[in-house]
Amino acid sequence: MTTARASPVTLEPAPERADAACELRAVSKVYYKPDGSVMVEALKGVDLVIRRGEYVAIMGPSGSGKSTLLTLLGCLDRPTGGQFLVGGRDVRAMSDEELSVFRGRTIGFVFQSFNLIAQHSILENVGVPLFYQNVPPADRHRRAAEMLDLVGLGDRVHHRPMELSGGQQQRAAIARALVTNPLILLADEPTGNLDSATGQSILALFDRLHEQGMTVIMVTHDPAIGDRARRVVRLRDGLVEVDRMNPPRAATVA
Ligand SMILES: Nc1ncnc2c1ncn2[C@@H]1O[C@H](COP(=O)(O)OP(=O)(O)OP(=O)(O)O)[C@@H](O)[C@H]1O
Ligand SMILES: [Mg+2]
Repeated sequence: MTTARASPVTLEPAPERADAACELRAVSKVYYKPDGSVMVEALKGVDLVIRRGEYVAIMGPSGSGKSTLLTLLGCLDRPTGGQFLVGGRDVRAMSDEELSVFRGRTIGFVFQSFNLIAQHSILENVGVPLFYQNVPPADRHRRAAEMLDLVGLGDRVHHRPMELSGGQQQRAAIARALVTNPLILLADEPTGNLDSATGQSILALFDRLHEQGMTVIMVTHDPAIGDRARRVVRLRDGLVEVDRMNPPRAATVA
């Protein structure tokens, strides 16, 4: 479980909700071996500013650093070098507790491998981020059920992840990321396991969330999805190779 930990720490007030733009300056990420030697330099100096309300697709070959970048953007890990500012604050200056509270309030994360808790129903899984925000059980279950309805799993709420198809698990993971109404949605291949009709309905949902002001940052291999985003950041070998804006689309496909 990598979502926010229970924590007595509260950030007062929550100015980060007013400006969740993130800024990476020469950010690097090195994975080390247990003996301290360098295993992989996954990011080699990434400069990137993401403004509030943007819809960004992160693309690039397998192993180019997309998931690593998303993990940093989601404050689930810290950079090895460079500067990472989120909501105007330097992540390195924040304690683990502060970061955890910030993450829980601000960020919804859809993992490439879903990260659902096997022994819990999906209703309970989707309610987990609300548990960490001390939302009472009745509210938690109501909001989780609404979110599962939204992703088309209203008739599966009491199933455990193993009792669902890969695509259904993916949709449950999306519901969990959205249940807190986060300011930033980070999704790693969110349509990778979905048939095209379900994938389209999830993308239409992301479009709507973006139109309502949510910042959406998505990793994808699919050029059609890249075209749907407003901006494409393409990584290669741990560096930004391309950073381009797409022309505005005529209309959102419902
Ligand atoms: N925990 C880790 N320890 C060591 N090396 C890692 C770790 N996670 C990723 N790497 C390495 O870092 C590089 C970037 O990995 P990353 O998962 O970010 O790639 P990716 O672009 O998301 O690839 P994919 O499209 O296959 O998901 C790869 O060479 C990978 O082997
Ligand atoms: Mg990846």
